[in-house]
Amino acid sequence: MSPDPPLLLLLLLLFLLLSATNAAVISPTPSPTSSPKPPKTTTPISKSTLDPKQLRALQSLNIPTTKNPCTSTTATCDTSTPFSHLLSLTLSNCSDDVALSLTALKSLSTLTSLKFINCPISPIHFPSELALNLHSFTCINSLKKLTGVWLSRLQNVTELTVSKTSITASGPSIILNGMKFLDSVTMSNTNLSGFLPKHWHPNLTFVDLSSNNLKGKIPISITRLENLLHLNLSSNSLNETIPTTIGDMGSLKNLSLASNSLSGSIPESLTSLVGLMHLDLGSNQLNGTIPDFIRDMKILKYLNLEKNNFHGVLPFNVSFIKGLEVFKVGENSNLCYNRTTLGSKSKVKLGIAPCDKHGLPLSPPPAKELSSDDDSSAADDDYGNVDEKKPHHGPSKIVLGVAIGLSSIVFLIVFLVLLSKCCK
Ligand SMILES: *[C@@H]1O[C@H](CO)[C@@H](O)[C@H](O)[C@H]1NC(C)=O
Ligand SMILES: *[C@@H]1O[C@H](CO)[C@@H](O)[C@H](O)[C@H]1NC(C)=O
Ligand SMILES: *[C@@H]1O[C@H](CO)[C@@H](O)[C@H](O)[C@H]1NC(C)=O
Ligand SMILES: *[C@@H]1O[C@H](CO)[C@@H](O)[C@H](O)[C@H]1NC(C)=O
Ligand SMILES: *[C@@H]1O[C@H](CO)[C@@H](O)[C@H](O)[C@H]1NC(C)=O
Ligand SMILES: *[C@@H]1O[C@H](CO)[C@@H](O)[C@H](O)[C@H]1NC(C)=O
Ligand SMILES: *[C@@H]1O[C@H](CO)[C@@H](O)[C@H](O)[C@H]1NC(C)=O
Ligand SMILES: *[C@@H]1O[C@H](CO)[C@@H](O)[C@H](O)[C@H]1NC(C)=O
Ligand SMILES: *[C@@H]1O[C@H](CO)[C@@H](O)[C@H](O)[C@H]1NC(C)=O
Ligand SMILES: *[C@@H]1O[C@H](CO)[C@@H](O)[C@H](O)[C@H]1NC(C)=O
Repeated sequence: MSPDPPLLLLLLLLFLLLSATNAAVISPTPSPTSSPKPPKTTTPISKSTLDPKQLRALQSLNIPTTKNPCTSTTATCDTSTPFSHLLSLTLSNCSDDVALSLTALKSLSTLTSLKFINCPISPIHFPSELALNLHSFTCINSLKKLTGVWLSRLQNVTELTVSKTSITASGPSIILNGMKFLDSVTMSNTNLSGFLPKHWHPNLTFVDLSSNNLKGKIPISITRLENLLHLNLSSNSLNETIPTTIGDMGSLKNLSLASNSLSGSIPESLTSLVGLMHLDLGSNQLNGTIPDFIRDMKILKYLNLEKNNFHGVLPFNVSFIKGLEVFKVGENSNLCYNRTTLGSKSKVKLGIAPCDKHGLPLSPPPAKELSSDDDSSAADDDYGNVDEKKPHHGPSKIVLGVAIGLSSIVFLIVFLVLLSKCCK
């Protein structure tokens, strides 16, 4: 005699509930500490003390000087005698009553690196000796408001980072054109307006102008940056087409043009960017088909083509999609996937419809299924780990959802089995 089926099912249910509870307990929610990294201290061990003038300047900026500042994480110093001098300084989490003074800044002009992080103090005109000595300048959520003219005086910087700070300027050109040694520039979340520069420093390796109000087209001149590793122009109002010469930026690893108003198709030359790890073209008005060559990009980890007007058959197979950490193609109403190559379950996961035999979408993807995407994606089957991954998406919600879903199914089965037994 076989064991009672309802009993078995009840045991199964108990097991499922238990494992769901366990999962809920062990799945941690690591809250990402997004605190800025402390600056590297390259302070040489030295007995010499800091120049008294610089010491006073630090005191005026509320920086504790009871301990030698050169041995703290806020500053690095040279080894000159009898007094050492500051080389780098980070001002972070200042109180509003701290004020920059010309006297203090004048005595700090030995600095080559200056960082303001969460320092909402008023900017003042930097003495030119300090402005020209700086090789690296960082301002994150600090200095209230900057102007293009103010920033353009930092002519010798190789690294410029301004983020979460408003910049008033006619455009990036006025800031960047005079910086002859620039290697890396970030001006992100600054409300910077105007057009992208026509002239770029050929040695640039890093350009992040994301989350601003930049408009107009992407200039062809930017594609001559052969050394560029990282280009992020996302969340602006850029329009017209992606330059056909985009493939000339042969060193590119990360490219994001997402959330603009770009139209036209993906340029053929993109096929040359064999080192691409991160490609984000989401939320534009791009059209045409998704080019086959993308599946040959061997080290691609992140691919976002969602919210565009692409059409035709998705040219990817399961192993390609599974090799990616993030893959998004949803909300392209004329795009479809081949059920023979991707299986029929993929609809919910990809957010697009399967194709008919002519390569046209069978039915428009239902909007409801799309929105429930996130919660079901982490749950089940073979596509579970190819869909979009949101690392900070509360996992306990999902676990709870799965637990409730599974137990309802089991209850239903028990009910049906009992029903079928009693009605025999
Ligand atoms: C600044 O404040 C933030 C949040 O209060 C904190 O996480 C961070 O560690 C502070 N940074 C420094 C260098 O004190
Ligand atoms: C900074 O640039 C100016 C010209 O803009 C140059 O004369 C000067 O030598 C540079 N200073 C340093 C410290 O690199
Ligand atoms: C951002 O810029 C626009 C104009 O380009 C202006 O109207 C708006 O007030 C600015 N916002 C901030 C926060 O500075
Ligand atoms: C670019 O970098 C190379 C090597 O680092 C250097 O020789 C060259 O002078 C730089 N070009 C410019 C325009 O600064
Ligand atoms: C580009 O910038 C946006 C907004 O600042 C950011 O969310 C995104 O992670 C950046 N992408 C890359 C590849 O750095
Ligand atoms: C692109 O944007 C610029 C500036 O906003 C505008 O003058 C131009 O007409 C736009 N081009 C197209 C094709 O919409
Ligand atoms: C793609 O968009 C461009 C510009 O918006 C348009 O000229 C072209 O006809 C479109 N191509 C297709 C295949 O829809
Ligand atoms: C470049 O892309 C990779 C893969 O998505 C990502 O891990 C990395 O953080 C990105 N780099 C930057 C500077 O955003
Ligand atoms: C899937 O596509 C990749 C190219 O992206 C190819 O190398 C691989 O052989 C294909 N796998 C299968 C099972 O067709
Ligand atoms: C789907 O893939 C199969 C097998 O590779 C192929 O025979 C068929 O033509 C494809 N269908 C479409 C619409 O591309």
